[in-house]
Amino acid sequence: MNISAIIPAAGSGERFGGKKQLKIMGNRPLMFKTISPFISSELITEIILVVPRNDVEQVEQELKSIVSAKPLKVIAGGKTRQQSVHKGLTVTEDSAELICIHDAVRPFITEALIEKVVNKCKEHDGVILAQPSTDTVKKVIDDQILETLPRETIWRAQTPQVFSKSALREALELAEAENIHGTDEASLLERIGYQVGFVEGSSLNIKITTEEDWIFAEAIFKHLNHD
Ligand code: CTP
Ligand code: MG
Repeated sequence: MNISAIIPAAGSGERFGGKKQLKIMGNRPLMFKTISPFISSELITEIILVVPRNDVEQVEQELKSIVSAKPLKVIAGGKTRQQSVHKGLTVTEDSAELICIHDAVRPFITEALIEKVVNKCKEHDGVILAQPSTDTVKKVIDDQILETLPRETIWRAQTPQVFSKSALREALELAEAENIHGTDEASLLERIGYQVGFVEGSSLNIKITTEEDWIFAEAIFKHLNHD
């Protein structure tokens, strides 16, 4: 079965204060660390990097130093993450049956986690990685708590998120037509009735959103490289 990986990396990093996906971690831009298990994984057939329009050439240049037996495509992203993913989808090879989407800013993904998600796809229209909430989660309005959500029912979505290509395409097209913007792809499939499953991820699979997250990311990086 052919599986295309789409790596949305076209954000501007407003909350971080810059393009975090291109910030150097170790000795190379973060997103190159992120794609490395996708390059190694035998399950992934091609990788599509969706980057800011102005960075397409630079990323293509840097990719030349990476050894990969599979095609690595670089394209310009859109205004929103959803649009970037949609653009990525349009250049996937026709033979791809599953699409695996992974944030460029989750650099600690592993081959084992990618495989765990993909292997559960037979049972669902899509499967995502998620973590049980260890915090008690409150629903709020303004500065007041409305209710406390039962913690055992709360899981925090991560990526990779893997979907049947046809279901993902339908979900993205309908969302666009109805002007709906999801913060992940799973939510777009859920809303039109597809069954999306999940498997437990890892708390090391963090998303770098703010400057503080970089502190945790560097600590994880050091830990994994010096153990
Ligand atoms: N992303 C993208 N295209 C966009 C916006 C985001 O491909 N138009 C990507 C980001 O590069 C990132 C992932 O989606 O890899 C998750 O998004 P997020 O953490 O929100 O990154 P940014 O959008 O860059 O950050 P911010 O929302 O703070 O501006
Ligand atoms: Mg964003």
